[in-house]
Amino acid sequence: MQLVIIAGGLGTRLRPLTLHRPKALVPLVDRPQIAHILDALPPSCDEVIVAVNYMFEQVRDFFRERQFGVAVRVVEEPVPLGTAGAIKSLQRWLNGPFAVYNGDVVDTIEFDRLVAAHEKAQGIATIAVWPVDDPSAYGVVAVEKGRITRFVEKPAKGEAPSNLVNAGRYVFEPRVLDLIEAGHAVSLEREVFPRLIEHGVFPYRYEGFWSDAGTLPNYLNAQRLLLDAGHAKISPDADVTAGSLRPPVYVAAGAYVEGRVGPHVVLGKACRIGRASLRNATLLEGVSVDDKAEVTASIIGAGAAIGEGAHVRDSILGDTVQVSPHATIVDERVTA
Ligand code: GDD
Ligand code: MG
Repeated sequence: MQLVIIAGGLGTRLRPLTLHRPKALVPLVDRPQIAHILDALPPSCDEVIVAVNYMFEQVRDFFRERQFGVAVRVVEEPVPLGTAGAIKSLQRWLNGPFAVYNGDVVDTIEFDRLVAAHEKAQGIATIAVWPVDDPSAYGVVAVEKGRITRFVEKPAKGEAPSNLVNAGRYVFEPRVLDLIEAGHAVSLEREVFPRLIEHGVFPYRYEGFWSDAGTLPNYLNAQRLLLDAGHAKISPDADVTAGSLRPPVYVAAGAYVEGRVGPHVVLGKACRIGRASLRNATLLEGVSVDDKAEVTASIIGAGAAIGEGAHVRDSILGDTVQVSPHATIVDERVTA
């Protein structure tokens, strides 16, 4: 079965990291976000079609260089067509029932089980769902007698029909394509799902974990889930002997650590951490953090430098940002 990955969003909620790289290629623990999806595909998935708009060339080049044991076609969408318009534009390449994944989600879903559930239910579509505490930032479904009876995208707080959200993993019958107009932007969630309900849309539940990774808190949640699930690692080519690590952490090759790191910290290649304290954070490659600095609940872009005694919390710092000694940065997005 073919899998379409819709990965054309602008990634505005992860700016400034997404000013120079598409969201699909933002590193998440040890590899670009989209690679977590490819790694989990079984042989029954015989082709992946990636629909990209923003920074198409970077995604195309990534898949030219990295092989995943499955044929990957990266298709450029010259103007963003929305989540359904993107799928419609791929119609000529689709040759039967097909799966669709959002590109910015990490999970433990099993492709084969999702497909098997779709075949058993015999609806026009199957939507994987996941329970969350606050569904207002997602698509929310109402389920009655095993069927989805309503789909509400981003309901106002308190107006969600349930706490089951659209996990961004679907299987569709080809006739779904006939219900999407060609040639302009169409939203799968706001326009197409409500239309599909009468044709039989079924929910799919699975075990394990699920997280969106497209906002700072969700990205950090996704990272935490991956680290807890066995992606923690300390490279033998890192020097952590002078530091104190609180697992789980991921430390890439060439990193040097003196300070307190963890839990839930990812250090990219060649990061240099003085006697600082890092918790629940990602540092992309080549970041330096000086003595007595503190970094929590933040993503620090490649080559950034955090001065002595500085505090960074709930923030995203772009590549090569310099933070002055003793500065305090809370809930900010900082570009170099
Ligand atoms: N090709 C293409 N073209 N892809 C797009 C476009 C477009 O115009 N717009 C968005 N995408 C891609 C994004 O890159 C992302 O992988 C996916 O479609 C979903 O878009 P987001 O912008 O990340 O949506 P969201 O996170 O607010 O909500 C979506 O995901 C939730 C789960 O994480 C919805 O599908 C919700 O219903 C769902 O609960
Ligand atoms: Mg998203």
